[in-house]
Amino acid sequence: MQQMALVGFMQAGNATVYAGSWRHPATEHGFLTSGYYAKLGRTLEEGCFDMMFFDDRLAMPGIYGGSVAEAVRHGARPVKLDLSIVLGVVAGATRSIGLGATYSTTYYSPFHVARTFATLDHLTGGRAAWNVVTSVNDSEAQNFGVEKVLGHDERYDRADEFLEATTALWDSWEDDALVLDRISGVFADPQKVHEVNLAGTWFSVRGPLTVPRSPQGRPVLLQAGSSGRGRDFAARWAEVIFTGDPDIDVARNHYKDQKERIAEDGRDPDSVKILPMAYTVVGESKAQAQEREQMFLHDFVDPMASLTLLSELMNYDFAGMPLDAPITDELIGSVSGIRGLVQNLRAHIGGDTVTLADLAGHRATLLQGPRFVGTGPEVADQMEAWFTTDACDGFVIAATHSPGAYEDVVRLVVPELQRRGVFRHRYEGATLRENLGLARPERVAHG
Ligand SMILES: Cc1cc2nc3c(=O)[nH]c(=O)nc-3n(C[C@H](O)[C@H](O)[C@H](O)COP(=O)(O)O)c2cc1C
Repeated sequence: MQQMALVGFMQAGNATVYAGSWRHPATEHGFLTSGYYAKLGRTLEEGCFDMMFFDDRLAMPGIYGGSVAEAVRHGARPVKLDLSIVLGVVAGATRSIGLGATYSTTYYSPFHVARTFATLDHLTGGRAAWNVVTSVNDSEAQNFGVEKVLGHDERYDRADEFLEATTALWDSWEDDALVLDRISGVFADPQKVHEVNLAGTWFSVRGPLTVPRSPQGRPVLLQAGSSGRGRDFAARWAEVIFTGDPDIDVARNHYKDQKERIAEDGRDPDSVKILPMAYTVVGESKAQAQEREQMFLHDFVDPMASLTLLSELMNYDFAGMPLDAPITDELIGSVSGIRGLVQNLRAHIGGDTVTLADLAGHRATLLQGPRFVGTGPEVADQMEAWFTTDACDGFVIAATHSPGAYEDVVRLVVPELQRRGVFRHRYEGATLRENLGLARPERVAHG
């Protein structure tokens, strides 16, 4: 039977993707300790998750009212740690789970990113994944010496060239280049280590990489663009696509459209996993799960934290707008942030009648994905319904609180999925690619 992929959606900071999570009574405030991340890794590995991957932002939310004050006061993710170090910690505490990090093609350079992920892939025995993002707002730009973020499609043009350069660098060593012959004194075969000599519009890089070709050949590539240009980019490069679709019908349309784009690009659609983000709120009984859901929906949602994050997402300062102002098509069309997500969300919660207050409330709780609420079997039913009707190939599980929400999934939902034969009982592969059923990429000669 077809197996679903499960990925943990992680945040190396004070809150999960649900901004109010740090106030949850069961949240551990260990986000500045290595033990916290090690424990998360071990928990998800116990549940045989394919991968845990960390999102990232390169700035505090500072668009709302032109200040970071509200983000700091309300804990609207003002803390974001350096991911390469966090992953190093988790790598040491785990053996099989895939480890992914978000790196921006707008603010980093291809050599740096290629080296980081090749190193991670070696030191984890082939468990590395890169979530490729283009970065969406001016707060981030201003931490890198630029006033405004690049235009939407331009960011993707730059990202295409970034990927051409990083893949060339990963391929700059042939797989059998290392000789390590103590007697002859030949360390590596110079015929098998190549400069790449790329000179493009955005980047030029000579190479070779200072890291030999890694166990997976290249790390697994994740991507989450949802606009037309974003989907085309994903069709060309992504091996795992992370979506933010609020309900099953939107997800099915997205799934079909994205798989068609992959085929048009000449790739096998089955070789790419499409995984929507989903919140799971699990209880020992349905009543307990519903009680937890109410807590999640109402108790910790600060309207100011929501507005701060909405401003960040849309790259638009909502400070001067009344809460009952309608969110119009014109408004969405005029912003440079993540338009697709906001359009979907608006359609999902009421279309034309949606106000700023409605959107802000959903930004804080529902965010981008569905919410599966109930006992272990009930949550498994909902996941199976999506998985078996071409809405997805698995899920990226987001947490209402951490690490408790992941512990609940591992204890109550995973065994149920395993019993139904839709999820593995143990890791069968040695690398993340093998566990996801993805081929090891052939090396392409460059330069
Ligand atoms: C579900 C989801 C998760 C994302 N996570 C991040 C992230 O962690 N960091 C980031 O900079 N951008 C993130 N993005 C932004 C995307 O990488 C992309 O830049 C953005 O969606 C704009 O592209 P689009 O207009 O094609 O959607 C995410 C987008 C989606 C849909």
